[in-house]
Amino acid sequence: MAKVYEPEGGSEANRPSPRGASSPAALVRAAPDPAFTVTFDGRTLTALPGQSIAAVFWAAGILSWRTTRAGGEPRGAFCGIGSCYDCLATVNGRPNQRACLVAARPGDVITTQEGTGHADLAV
Ligand code: FES
Repeated sequence: MAKVYEPEGGSEANRPSPRGASSPAALVRAAPDPAFTVTFDGRTLTALPGQSIAAVFWAAGILSWRTTRAGGEPRGAFCGIGSCYDCLATVNGRPNQRACLVAARPGDVITTQEGTGHADLAV
């Protein structure tokens, strides 16, 4: 039978946290800012401070928020780090915003991006 190393004072899971804190936020006495709302195609979504727009969509169960130029195929986040450009959305009237990089802000108006996102712009 293999010997299991047990650190002095018991395992990490059984050791009481400092000062009775029960979470990382409690350890540093963090108080997150309150949630806020954004809209996506007229639907109100709840966002947390610091969340990317893609994270807000995922939390709401939305996995696709643009269509491709050729074929109109649905797309959402793929890489999640700003490299693939699959997650483009129109944010406050500005097309081609990478939803995985743009932080949601209170009152943001986000819409599905069709193709290049310039169809309804006078360009
Ligand atoms: S998911 Fe790839 S750039 Fe946003």
